[in-house]
Amino acid sequence: MARPRVTVYNEVSVDGRIQGFVGDPSRYYRRGFALDYDAVLMGSVTARSFGPAETDDEQAGQGPTVAAQPVPEGFAELVTEPRPRLVVVDGGGVVRNWRHAQAQPWYGGFVSLVSAHTPPEHVEHLRRREVDVVTAGDRHVDLAAALEQLARRHGVRSLRTDSGGRLAGALLAAGLVDELVLLVVPRLSGRHHGLSVVELPHPMDEHGLDLELTELERLDDGTLWSRYRVRY
Ligand SMILES: NC(=O)c1ccc[n+]([C@@H]2O[C@H](COP(=O)([O-])OP(=O)(O)OC[C@H]3O[C@@H](n4cnc5c(N)ncnc54)[C@H](OP(=O)(O)O)[C@@H]3O)[C@@H](O)[C@H]2O)c1
Repeated sequence: MARPRVTVYNEVSVDGRIQGFVGDPSRYYRRGFALDYDAVLMGSVTARSFGPAETDDEQAGQGPTVAAQPVPEGFAELVTEPRPRLVVVDGGGVVRNWRHAQAQPWYGGFVSLVSAHTPPEHVEHLRRREVDVVTAGDRHVDLAAALEQLARRHGVRSLRTDSGGRLAGALLAAGLVDELVLLVVPRLSGRHHGLSVVELPHPMDEHGLDLELTELERLDDGTLWSRYRVRY
C-alpha cells in the first residue's frame, strides 16, 4: 500500500511564523477537524502540551487515571466516527504524557512513531499505555517508511499535521507533503526569532519550491484560508 496523503496544516502570521502572535486556536481546531482525515500527525514538542509528563514511578506502574475530557460546548459536530488516530513522531522517546492525550475527546486510537534509537524502556511504557508503536529509522524516525507502515498496518490513507515547522520541514525535505493548508492571520509576529511554518533541515535551492494555489477564502476578520498543492 502507498503512503497516506499528507497535508501540512498551520495557522500563521503574515510573516510566516507559527508563534509570537495572537491567533484563534478555536477556529484552527474547528476547521482542522472539519477537514476529515484518518489521522493527525503531531510533533513531539507540540504533543507535550497535552499535560504534565508522568514521573518515572508513574511510568513504571499504571499511573494515575486522567478523567476523560468532555467535548467542549459548540464542538460536538467535530467528533465524527471513526475519530482520527493521533500519531506522534517521537524518536527521542520524550512524550510521557500519553494519559492526557488519551483523555482528549478528539482521537480514536494512538500511535507513536519511534526509531531504533528510542530507549527500550520508553517503548515498554508505550505498550503499557496501549499506544501502538511503529518503528522506522536509526536515529530520527524515517518518515517515509513510518508513513508506509501506517498505511499498511493501520489503514491510514490521509493525515494532516498538528505540529511546528520542524516536522513540516522534515516531511517536505523527504518529499512527503502533498498539500499545505494555511490560515494566514492578518498580523505580524512580534518576535525577532520564532519558528516558521517550515523549518527545513537543509536550505532549498534559490528557486524555492513551487506551490499551486487551489483554494482561497477571506474570513470575517481578514484571515485567509488558503490551500496549496505542492509541486516537487
Ligand atoms: N501555529 C500553528 O498552527 C501551530 C500548530 C501546532 C504547533 N504549533 C507550535 O509549534 C511549536 C513546536 O514546533 P516544533 O517545530 O519545535 O516542534 P514539533 O513539530 O512539535 O516537533 C518537532 C518534530 O519534528 C520531528 N523531526 C525533526 N527533524 C526530523 C527529521 N529529520 N526526521 C524525522 N522527524 C524529525 C521531531 O521528531 P523527534 O522527536 O523524533 O526528534 C519532532 O516530532 C510549539 O510552540 C507549538 O505551539 C503551532
